[in-house]
Amino acid sequence: MGTLTNKRILLGITGGIAAYKCADLTRRLRDAGAEVRVVMTQAATQFVTPLTMQTVSDHPVYQHVFDDAVAPDTTMAHIELARWADLILVAPASANSLAKLAQGRADDLLTTLCLATDAVVAVAPAMNRQMWQNPATQDNLAALRRNGIAVFGPAEGIQACGETGPGRMLEPAELIALAADLFATGLLSGLRVIVTAGPTWESIDPVRGITNRSSGKMGYAVAHAAVDAGAETILVSGPTHLDPPERVDVVRVTSAQQMLAAVHDRIGEADIFIGVAAAADYRPAEVSVDKIKKDAETMTLKLIRNPDILASVAAIPQGPFTVGFAAETTDLIHHARKKLERKGVDMIAANKVGVPETGFDSDDNALALIDDQGIIELPRMHKSRLARRLIREIARSYHAKDSTENTRRAHRR
Ligand code: PMT
Repeated sequence: MGTLTNKRILLGITGGIAAYKCADLTRRLRDAGAEVRVVMTQAATQFVTPLTMQTVSDHPVYQHVFDDAVAPDTTMAHIELARWADLILVAPASANSLAKLAQGRADDLLTTLCLATDAVVAVAPAMNRQMWQNPATQDNLAALRRNGIAVFGPAEGIQACGETGPGRMLEPAELIALAADLFATGLLSGLRVIVTAGPTWESIDPVRGITNRSSGKMGYAVAHAAVDAGAETILVSGPTHLDPPERVDVVRVTSAQQMLAAVHDRIGEADIFIGVAAAADYRPAEVSVDKIKKDAETMTLKLIRNPDILASVAAIPQGPFTVGFAAETTDLIHHARKKLERKGVDMIAANKVGVPETGFDSDDNALALIDDQGIIELPRMHKSRLARRLIREIARSYHAKDSTENTRRAHRR
């Protein structure tokens, strides 16, 4: 089973008596680690108040396409919200909302979001049994499933209208388990993955050092996505302020040399290595035992090259499938391709940096993945979502590689 930690869930409530369960559902989603935003249709507000949902989600409730609260600084509020979500869960999904989603209509905020998103969409139908069994509803469900929309339930039992049969919305705990399973892709199950993350710290003296602006967010998100994909995952992390991702074995290091040693201690077990860390290229030639006094007007620091961790892993005979990152401010693809060739890696994730709101120390990022098959552009999105897309592409490329090559790697263990 997957988890909902750090998953961004947009709960779309439509008009049905089961809407009363949404306050409990929201609370439980948040307890399970998810961030929740709520969108309500007009009909939904007849069953549960926006104030209730605002209180339990701790965020404004969105109701209209041109809602200022969604994104005050943009006229494309619905697009911002559609981009934000990892999952849109429509619960309860009325017969009318299923029909609109099946037809691809966009006549309110919720249906517009479902059309405008590339996130996973799931519906939890809730309606009278006759409405559920009506061939029109069943046709709509078949269309939704064909379009990749997940259908959760419904359950059978006594209904609010007094009848008994299929059409009850699943209980919140069941919906949460099904939602979590959507993220457990199994794409890397049975494989071992090592990810590096964060900056390194290269000491000058006991209190000073050289580092960089890497927060570790990208690497931690990649480790999280690898675990969600079923991999046994080791995260070798430079100094960060981040909480360790669940189910990941975290090895903390400080310098690039320590990172190299930690990676090589474990690399014999790895099927895939992903170098996200901004490991320092250079370190001070000498580290002063005592704090250096500021007696001189100027001072010169001599730096020497650090080992290249990524290249050293790529050079291992029959080594793991190796993915590097290339942080570049200019000529992104050109320089990234050169790094792919020079370091001998299987794939490189070209990362334009020095751009506001992406790259170092931001929540969002954008990547261009380059391998011998070509380039895949992953546009700007939240790092957790980007990491899942990256892992999907790595899994595809790993499994597409000559299977004997991967078998040889397995035998090395
Ligand atoms: O941590 P965040 O704030 O979320 O920011 C994410 C990020 C911008 C750091 C990340 O997305 C990224 O681009 N990481 C690579 C940063 C980097 O050092 O790029 P580079 O082009 O200098 O290095 C190329 C590759 O060599 C990288 O895979 C790097 O891990 C590796 N390397 C570099 C130096 C070194 N001594 N050993 C290495 O293995």
